[in-house]
Amino acid sequence: MRNRKNDGAGIGAGDTKHGDDGDYSPSRRHFIKSVGMSSIAAATTGAGLGTAWADDGSSADQAATAAAPAEGTMRITLKVNGQPRQIDAAPNLILLDALRDELELTGTKKGCDHGQCGACNVHVNGTVINSCLSLAVMHDGDEITTVEGLSDGEDLHPIQQAFLDEDAYQCGYCTSGQMMTATAVLADTRIDSSDDAVREAMSGNICRCGAYKNILAAVQSTRGKI
Ligand code: FES
Ligand code: FES
Repeated sequence: MRNRKNDGAGIGAGDTKHGDDGDYSPSRRHFIKSVGMSSIAAATTGAGLGTAWADDGSSADQAATAAAPAEGTMRITLKVNGQPRQIDAAPNLILLDALRDELELTGTKKGCDHGQCGACNVHVNGTVINSCLSLAVMHDGDEITTVEGLSDGEDLHPIQQAFLDEDAYQCGYCTSGQMMTATAVLADTRIDSSDDAVREAMSGNICRCGAYKNILAAVQSTRGKI
């Protein structure tokens, strides 16, 4: 699906070659890769705390499931990265905060918190959305994919490998949102394969480091691999 557009900033704006200081050192790349893998590991090992849990059939989970929802909350199940996760959600709980704070899936980032940067993008039932603009209670039963759900264990998804190969980040803060949008763009047969079409489709994802040229290269090099 096409990502939402914004005011012209994005992959099509300011195509500056990132890393103008020439810092392509292995140590920086290793650091970024380590951070990425750490978030993946955290996501795959961390069951939610507090009001969130994975219903794996254990007696503790069954007891938690049987208890009434906390006052003023609604018990919902989000199917996150293939796993059913229950949370007791307040009516005003934002999906982004549910993922990050309740389910400890911190790969999804909070940038603007106003639907303008794409850092929070996730897939819901196959469509990419800004999770900062959506209430968690609206997604009871929905299939949600976050950046932690892209990899297959230790095996990176082709878009993750392409971002590494093309050096398509500096600080990495926008990267998870960029990758979630990129996978949706590549899967959308209505979007032309030209560079201009990809820039337009990803124009809702802001990279404050200006890594757009490398991000475009990463997206295009993944074409046909997913
Ligand atoms: S944090 Fe959601 S669009 Fe910026
Ligand atoms: S890599 Fe820093 S915001 Fe995109």
